[in-house]
Amino acid sequence: MTTTEGLQDVVATHSQICDIDGTLGKLTYYGVDIHDLARFSSFEETAYLLWHGTLPTHAQLDELKAQLQSHRTIPERVIEIMRMLPTSTPPMDVLRTTVSLLSTFDSNIADRSPEANQQRAVRLTAMLTTIVAAWEQLRNGREPVAPLADGDHATNFLYMLQGEMPDTYSAHVMDVALILHADHELNASTFAARVTAGTLAHMYAAITSAIGTLSGPLHGGANEQVMRMLQRIGSIENAGPYIRGALERHDRIMGFGHRVYHTEDPRASHLRAMSEELGKRAGDTRWYEMSRIVEENVMEQKGLYCNVDFYSASVYYTLGIPVDLDTLVFASSRIAGWSAHVLEQYANNRLIRPRAEYVGPKVTDYVPIEQRG
Ligand code: SDX
Repeated sequence: MTTTEGLQDVVATHSQICDIDGTLGKLTYYGVDIHDLARFSSFEETAYLLWHGTLPTHAQLDELKAQLQSHRTIPERVIEIMRMLPTSTPPMDVLRTTVSLLSTFDSNIADRSPEANQQRAVRLTAMLTTIVAAWEQLRNGREPVAPLADGDHATNFLYMLQGEMPDTYSAHVMDVALILHADHELNASTFAARVTAGTLAHMYAAITSAIGTLSGPLHGGANEQVMRMLQRIGSIENAGPYIRGALERHDRIMGFGHRVYHTEDPRASHLRAMSEELGKRAGDTRWYEMSRIVEENVMEQKGLYCNVDFYSASVYYTLGIPVDLDTLVFASSRIAGWSAHVLEQYANNRLIRPRAEYVGPKVTDYVPIEQRG
């Protein structure tokens, strides 16, 4: 029996959804290159691709947009329960709790047909951004902002979060960020979702598993930690000394390294460019400039490339998204990928149950407690 810690490079299943070439730095969804999706597509189109395996026609895209629009509002009773949560609750715990709660409002929960589960994928994708935005309002003593009667997913998210219409470029950046984070093969949170779905638990349970998994700082939680590092650095002048000191201490630098990529994460180039452009438009490029200095030093000293979480930090900050919501933004995109993988798991399911090599004591006699002291 050979063990592979962390299942590194272990191929656990076949999937048609996402392909990553860690050597070439390539990422495709059903063969469509992430660079093309980032340049020409939308989150709605990308979600359709992940769920159906083809890019939508006009009619199919209009239908999906209408479905997302009709499900973007969350049940009032869910809001009432969210009101009861302490405002200090970590936002990822709020998201995980609320998604788990949504299953109790699904009157059709016994229907596990592919059609019903596809509808759940759309509903959950529609609602996650609303939950994130609603929490931001509730924890600040404000009423949730109702979604727009129209508008795309990214625009609605920023509108509900900030209570005002985003400018065109900010909405575009949000849309591209949602595309870039939508799926990534068997990353930890997607694998967690598939393990849960593999027991035939319902989709809400699988997505709850995924959200819990994403929250860790070695995975989706990294983007928030990157921004907190940049805030600790505080100035462009301090970026070099700070990061050199951290590297000398052998600190783990959030936003760098990857289990699969051994070259630049293809998503980073888009986020880096948007971080710079957003900074220029805001008249404040310091977060981008600090990031560049950190990136250059980490590459020079450790030979590590940045990953998707590094520049998304300054992009979200410059968009005005509170730092502790960064991972929720990641989840609001990845729900499309998670649900696509859950649908694929259900369609050709086999319980996921690996082994462990036992290294404990071979034989242990049972000693009655009276003789154990
Ligand atoms: C995401 O899997 C996915 O696809 C995830 C994701 C997705 O879209 O779903 O891409 C999103 O989670 C990106 C990763 C976000 N996490 C971080 O940025 C946290 C910091 N990164 C590291 O913790 C690490 O790089 C991981 C967790 C991402 C990968 O870890 P591995 O593959 O287990 O690698 P490792 O920890 O064994 O490190 C290998 C070597 C070590 O050096 P040695 O001890 O062998 O000398 O590289 C070093 C590590 O010390 N190293 C780092 C480092 N990452 C690796 N050193 C400093 N800082 C880092 N960030």
